[in-house]
Amino acid sequence: MHSASLWQDVLPEDWQYGGFGLYVHWPFCQAKCPYCDFNSHVTAQIDQSAWKNAYLAELDRIGAITQGRVLKSIFFGGGTPSMMNVDVVEAVITKARSLWGFSNTIEITLEANPTSVEAGRFAGYHDAGVNRISMGIQALNDEDLKTLGRLHNTQEALKAYETARSVFDRVSFDLIYARQNQSLRVWEKELKQALTLTIDHISLYQLTIEDGTAFGARAAIGKLGGLPDDDLSADLFQMTQELCADAGFAHYEISNFARPGHESRHNKLYWQYGDYAGIGPGAHGRLTINGERHATEAHLAPGKWLNAVKTVGNGDMLSEALPTEDQLHELLIMGLRLFEGTDYQRIMTLGGEKYINNINALIAGNLLEVKEGMLRTTARGRPLLNAVLAHVFAD
Ligand SMILES: C[S@@+](CC[C@H](N)C(=O)[O-])C[C@H]1O[C@@H](n2cnc3c(N)ncnc32)[C@H](O)[C@@H]1O
Ligand code: SF4
Repeated sequence: MHSASLWQDVLPEDWQYGGFGLYVHWPFCQAKCPYCDFNSHVTAQIDQSAWKNAYLAELDRIGAITQGRVLKSIFFGGGTPSMMNVDVVEAVITKARSLWGFSNTIEITLEANPTSVEAGRFAGYHDAGVNRISMGIQALNDEDLKTLGRLHNTQEALKAYETARSVFDRVSFDLIYARQNQSLRVWEKELKQALTLTIDHISLYQLTIEDGTAFGARAAIGKLGGLPDDDLSADLFQMTQELCADAGFAHYEISNFARPGHESRHNKLYWQYGDYAGIGPGAHGRLTINGERHATEAHLAPGKWLNAVKTVGNGDMLSEALPTEDQLHELLIMGLRLFEGTDYQRIMTLGGEKYINNINALIAGNLLEVKEGMLRTTARGRPLLNAVLAHVFAD
């Protein structure tokens, strides 16, 4: 039986399927990478104590409207959260514990860049309560790290990774593939090396060219050569799955691989469409308040967010109840990314009957299937997720 059904006997709210988590956005980086469209900024001066006070004020505000929850995960994301002073991270964790209490298996992840400066803070983060590091290594050769605009080289990354491993039981790292001029053979060699380093989790992202980034601008004028065509991209994706599977890492989400039981609990909470509070510039939240699911969105610009928290006591620029139809869309979009899929009954409770003919046609076409009460993509449907979703929602 799905464990959520057990919780539902006690608290019959939709979000209980995924649990409750906290996302903390740190919006600063040492340099802006040319491919990155995350809300990250480079600035000469950061008043860490002002940021600490603002995070704590936001936690108090949200804590007051979400009483009685138990926190399942905290994720410090960015930007580069490993630029945060240890006392800021510690204060956030301590406040969160006092507001909600922690589940026995709480996961507290911090995204770290692999330079020696950040590695020097790992022991402090650990003592503050962080129990998982997600490190942005991105590539295992110096030339590509340079092209990606990274400030670290391979040797430094491996050293920072070793330091993280000596401090934390759970250390994941990110690589970007489908890079410029990256052949199948070259990626195979690099990924095999990466898999010898991986403990229990790795994130492998295909390079995406985003509008508004330096790569996006170069691509627009035809100056970003050597990117893979669709065939090579599909082959790279396929090989990535096979090599990870051979090494014992299950492909549990488009870009994420883990040994069984070691999936990122925080990311799964998003994909299982649970409730989460989001604090910090640009952070999104999904909070069920008085039985109604709300979408929240914080001011994007760091200065504006900080100022709003200080002057009006609220960093959010938006907080609105989500219509059931929107919830159904979000549930399907998030849930079908997970290879385990999403609870069929929950889809129907949110009005999924409306799409039943489309869903059945996709099942008949071997693109979706229902297994153990979960609607999920088949091996055939998985690489076609966007098209599958478009069919589900078609009129
Ligand atoms: C919030 S970011 C980075 C965290 C950390 N600041 C870092 O760069 O190491 C999370 C991950 O997204 C991935 N990423 C960001 N932009 C990307 C893009 N355009 N294409 C593919 N992966 C991307 C990178 O692997 C990165 O580590
Ligand atoms: S990839 Fe990471 S370090 Fe680079 S700009 Fe984005 S958030 Fe900052």
